[in-house]
Amino acid sequence: MSKFEQLDAYLVEHQHAHLELLFELLRIPSVSADSSKKSEMGRAAAWVADQFRSAGLKTELIPGDGPALIYAETEPVEGQPVVLVYGHYDVQPADPLELWDTPPFEPALRDGNIYARGSTDDKGQMLTHVLSVLAWKNCGMKLPVQVKFLIEGQEEQGSEVLEAKLPELAKKLACDVIVISDSSQYAKGQPAITYGLRGIAYFELRVHGPKMDLHSGSFGGAVTNPGLALARILTEIKTPDGRIQLPGFYDNVVELEASERAMWDSMGFSDTKFAEALGVDALTGETGYSTLERRWARPTFDVHGLLGGYQGEGGKTVIPSWNGAKISFRLVPNQDPATVGRQLREFIASHTPPGVRVEVIDLHGGRGVVVDPNSKFMKGAVRAVEEGFGVQPVLIREGGSIPIVAQMVDALDCDVLLIGWGLDDDGAHSPNEKFCLNDFYRGIRSSSRLWEHLADRR
Ligand code: BES
Ligand code: MN
Ligand code: MN
Repeated sequence: MSKFEQLDAYLVEHQHAHLELLFELLRIPSVSADSSKKSEMGRAAAWVADQFRSAGLKTELIPGDGPALIYAETEPVEGQPVVLVYGHYDVQPADPLELWDTPPFEPALRDGNIYARGSTDDKGQMLTHVLSVLAWKNCGMKLPVQVKFLIEGQEEQGSEVLEAKLPELAKKLACDVIVISDSSQYAKGQPAITYGLRGIAYFELRVHGPKMDLHSGSFGGAVTNPGLALARILTEIKTPDGRIQLPGFYDNVVELEASERAMWDSMGFSDTKFAEALGVDALTGETGYSTLERRWARPTFDVHGLLGGYQGEGGKTVIPSWNGAKISFRLVPNQDPATVGRQLREFIASHTPPGVRVEVIDLHGGRGVVVDPNSKFMKGAVRAVEEGFGVQPVLIREGGSIPIVAQMVDALDCDVLLIGWGLDDDGAHSPNEKFCLNDFYRGIRSSSRLWEHLADRR
């Protein structure tokens, strides 16, 4: 039996066991945003570390000021590249709970999908690489490249622990290429390799007005309403035709290449179907750019939540003493989150009406990435995905962010391969998040081939 035949047989035989392992991890509610889930974060980290240890990998739990990092490595292979797999074991909060058909942390298999918070983002995807390395080990075969793993528990919150430790970890993490499966395929049945991600700059705004809530009958018309002031600021940040008004915001934005635009135009993307799938009667955004361009390669501004004021049942006639908003800018490569923070503060200073004070709180940020689609590892990745899925992957960019990637690439001076097994309709961050069972298996299979195809066979 050839190496690949042996691996394939092992993977088929262990499908059920692999699914059981994923279910175990999915049962741990490792919500990094929720400070009451600290012990669950610890359990998830320990679980991941145990998988590596069980396969005999040199494994370390690296504690920090927040969820622990897990580092593991296989043996070095002389003359061959070093591959670093990055992934995250933390998940987004599961609320609103009532919209889930089955509980978010009780994984359920329905119509070929695994439903659970974190199934696609990122526990299921991340585990494909862990399981494929375990497969090589358990088949008694020597991996063709050294594989290192760095699995963190704070990706959904801006990777503070990893960011702080990156300088001291740089030597340990030294590699030729980072492999990440935390993104999506282009469409069902059409796998993709992602060569660009957007960056992000996330803030909370707090508009402070009168020192206490006021009766709106007695005081309305005499003071600035913080909610209204907030609404005005928010709507002034982005015009209805999608242009962001912060001073200097577009200075570093790299315009799309004509060839890139032509390539995306030919991808058969349907605005009508997309709008229908989202349940909206129109798609909107920056004038002059297609939907794919706006999602993948143009900056934008969004409001994620509105805070303060009366949120209870019935009516309450108050002028709230404060109102707030969670907001973020998606950035394109070359834009810097810290610069955007300064531009936001400057904009707000000149747009704050009298009678209120606006506080800007930095939450987190990260730069975008673009990967050279002709890098020397790309060919191997294409081959591995093709062998795992039976379909040649297309090259895409995506609009989501993995904030630490740009910093890792800088610190480690390496290439990066973003090969996601998810689907746009997986519902990452949404109720009823799912991961296609077959994509889980195909992902493991692709990963098992990847180590071979990343090796230098000159
Ligand atoms: N896996 C996503 C990033 C992603 C989403 C990549 C869609 C490609 C397509 C990641 O877990 C994520 O959600 N990132 C956050 C970062 C933020 C919380 C700092 C994001 O993009 O909002
Ligand atoms: Mn993710
Ligand atoms: Mn996410």
